[in-house]
Amino acid sequence: MPQTIIAGIGHYVPSNVVTNNDLLQYMETSDEWIQERTGIKERRYAHRTDETTTTMGAEAATIAIERAGITKEDIDFIVFATISPDYYFPGCGVLLQRALKMKEIGALDIRNQCSGFVYALSVADQFIKTGMYKNILLVCSEKHSFGLDFSTRGRNISVIFGDGAAAVVLQPTEEKDRGILSTHLHSDGESAEILAMYNPGTHANHWLKDAADFDEAPVGEMFMSHNMIDKAQNFPNMDGPAVFKKAVVKFPEVIMEALDKNGFKPADLNLLIPHQANLRIAQFVQQKLQLKDDQVFNNIERMGNTTAASIPIALSEAWELGKIKKGDLVCMAAFGSGFTWGSALMKW
Ligand code: ACO
Repeated sequence: MPQTIIAGIGHYVPSNVVTNNDLLQYMETSDEWIQERTGIKERRYAHRTDETTTTMGAEAATIAIERAGITKEDIDFIVFATISPDYYFPGCGVLLQRALKMKEIGALDIRNQCSGFVYALSVADQFIKTGMYKNILLVCSEKHSFGLDFSTRGRNISVIFGDGAAAVVLQPTEEKDRGILSTHLHSDGESAEILAMYNPGTHANHWLKDAADFDEAPVGEMFMSHNMIDKAQNFPNMDGPAVFKKAVVKFPEVIMEALDKNGFKPADLNLLIPHQANLRIAQFVQQKLQLKDDQVFNNIERMGNTTAASIPIALSEAWELGKIKKGDLVCMAAFGSGFTWGSALMKW
């Protein structure tokens, strides 16, 4: 059975840099608070109208395809992971197919929040291993800046997120001891509401006690009502400390699961790319696994949390900086809303 390699990688982030101090015009916060709690100094925000989740993904995809030494005609399947899609439906996969003027190939959308890349990689890996596809384009992109609560009420979430995209081209190899060694996916829906965006949706308060009044909402206004907007129920919610507590347990656990499965120890890792949720979480994981500084790559200081795109943007940057070479043992691990979490271990 072939193994899956990353044959090409690229990323695209908007040119608009937004510093912590820039956020002071919208909300009560401070550079000191944000840096101390999250490690973030700045993030990128997409151009309001010229850049969408799909167009940023298309930019990244073009670089990844070129670096793989192929053309878009060679791509036989698209996987697109995001939680900030251009449309509620159809998903960004088909919009990317259109934007890049690709053939009538399949396009799959993945909605797994911060673990979107790891989940998408795992799915694509199965298609490559079975021989169904030979050149899968996996794109992750987020335009969070369009849907955050920029008032002081939403500051615990809004300061964390940034926009950006990354893409990889996945191909089979017959080379022994190369490519994705294993992927490990998990979920625990018990805590779904701890980090969630409820509306628009069809929940009708089935899970929530304090949401919009669906009994009163006129027919046609239940999906997204004036009431929801008045009550600011159209933004993401997060119990940050609860997410933090679970993340610092699950990150090391799922990294060790991948290493154990393949007979490696943390010291064997050339590079760990943790999902960039909070620098404090990444530092905790590094300490727990006793990894040296050069074994972990973080870019949250400059990018913020770009959810599905966070791991592949970091991977792309690390690769461009020459921090990943052929044969290196690379682990990618994510934890986020759902909760969903996962890891992927590969020999580059
Ligand atoms: N600026 C200033 N003060 C703030 C801000 C802000 N941006 N945000 C919150 N505060 C205040 C709070 O109001 C609170 O004030 P109080 O003590 O007077 O009530 C105080 O700071 C502490 O708030 P906490 O939420 O307890 O702060 P904490 O130290 O936990 O940091 C943070 C918050 C950064 C969100 C942290 O909990 C975290 O990173 N959690 C994990 C986030 C995460 O990993 N998310 C998953 C990825 S996202 C995804 O999957 C879509």
